Amino acid sequence: MMRFDVFTLFPSLLTSPLQESILKRAIEAGRLSVVVHNIRDYATDKHHITDDLPYGGGGGMVMKPEPIFAAVEAALGIEQPEAGREPELASRRALPLLFPAGRPLVILLTPQGRLFTQAVARELAAHERIVLICGRYEGVDERVRRFLAMDEISIGDYVLTGGELPALVVIDAVTRLLPGVLGDPGATLDDSHADALLEYPHYTRPANFRGQAVPDVLLSGDHAQVDRWRHEQSLRRTWERRPDLLPKARLSQADLELLARLAQESAGGASLQFD
Ligand code: 6GU
Repeated sequence: MMRFDVFTLFPSLLTSPLQESILKRAIEAGRLSVVVHNIRDYATDKHHITDDLPYGGGGGMVMKPEPIFAAVEAALGIEQPEAGREPELASRRALPLLFPAGRPLVILLTPQGRLFTQAVARELAAHERIVLICGRYEGVDERVRRFLAMDEISIGDYVLTGGELPALVVIDAVTRLLPGVLGDPGATLDDSHADALLEYPHYTRPANFRGQAVPDVLLSGDHAQVDRWRHEQSLRRTWERRPDLLPKARLSQADLELLARLAQESAGGASLQFD
């Protein structure tokens, strides 16, 4: 059972995607657990304030450190320091030492994090328990990053209003890698990005839709030929759309020859083409 603890100011942003389809079934099957914590519940002042003006001035608000530390420490069962007897923050990097077995990984979701890829998803899927802290985009007090988070993740080079959708992206990508979540254990091997090639085109019935026929080879019943066609389509698509992925792919001699042919075809002045 993999457990995620998500810390957010907007818990309801997380709920409905966890109540549908594969994530819902993973939870029902006891393979996944997601506990959403409202950071506001851990603010101790009368108005439960969770943000404040930035030191040094400038626009936007900054998420305060105290409610975030209190929320994560409470969830992980770390003793709350008594008021006025706060421990040195440097010891927080020792968080993993408090959980020698199946230590929870504490991740801050921020546009400044390392890029989330399929390789990172596989890495996270090996953990038993992961804490996700959702920053709002203007900013989180730097001491959260330095002394509470062990890792920082961004889901891409664009700016979102907060880390809640990224948290769902991480949970989704990791959950489908957990054993038994997808029926077929081979299902995650064929994925785009699993071996650094994009996926081949898929077709289902009808064989002819509004005059557009399914490629003959897929109706031939010749499995070897189907496999070859699909692999070639994957290579072609990757070449056309994501040539940056090719250096990472494991390519056979036949693959390299096909790519050489594609390079020759496009040397005639053709530009990037999507169908
Ligand atoms: Cl993790 N947070 C925000 N606010 N924006 C993002 C992101 C995260 N990843 C990409 N853009």
